[in-house]
Amino acid sequence: MPLPSCADHPSWTTLCHGESIAEGQARGFDLDGQGQTTVFVLHWQGQWRAWHDWCPHWRTGPMAWRRDAYFSGDGQSLMCHAHGARFDPLSGACTLGPCQGQALWPVALRLDPAGWVQIDPAQGPPLPAPEAAGGFDDTDLYRPATQGDNT
Ligand code: FES
Repeated sequence: MPLPSCADHPSWTTLCHGESIAEGQARGFDLDGQGQTTVFVLHWQGQWRAWHDWCPHWRTGPMAWRRDAYFSGDGQSLMCHAHGARFDPLSGACTLGPCQGQALWPVALRLDPAGWVQIDPAQGPPLPAPEAAGGFDDTDLYRPATQGDNT
């Protein structure tokens, strides 16, 4: 199936050339120019994905603790460094941590015939509003410890 052309989808945004993201690597992009990454692109097992840099646990981002550090130490999953949630790189499903059953939010991605990575955030579903996202009630996780409390 031929790739859609940019004329068909004028909202495609070219981010970088695919050669600049090696297999097993990810790279974040500050689409809004606000000094914070909002989308990241990964190249893993020969496939490409773009995800909003937004964790379903606290419904915020960024997920990386330093620039482009989206993969776990073993390189097998994505990781939110706020509370350690892990995600399947290709499906975005949370596989471990406080937001199991939820998933990363996808961004439409294509490689053009010359190998440039292009995304179109307007094609994907919008990020859920915080009150609509549902999810994990973790108020108990951060309760202050009291004397004699060993939990
Ligand atoms: S905000 Fe991502 S694991 Fe808590």
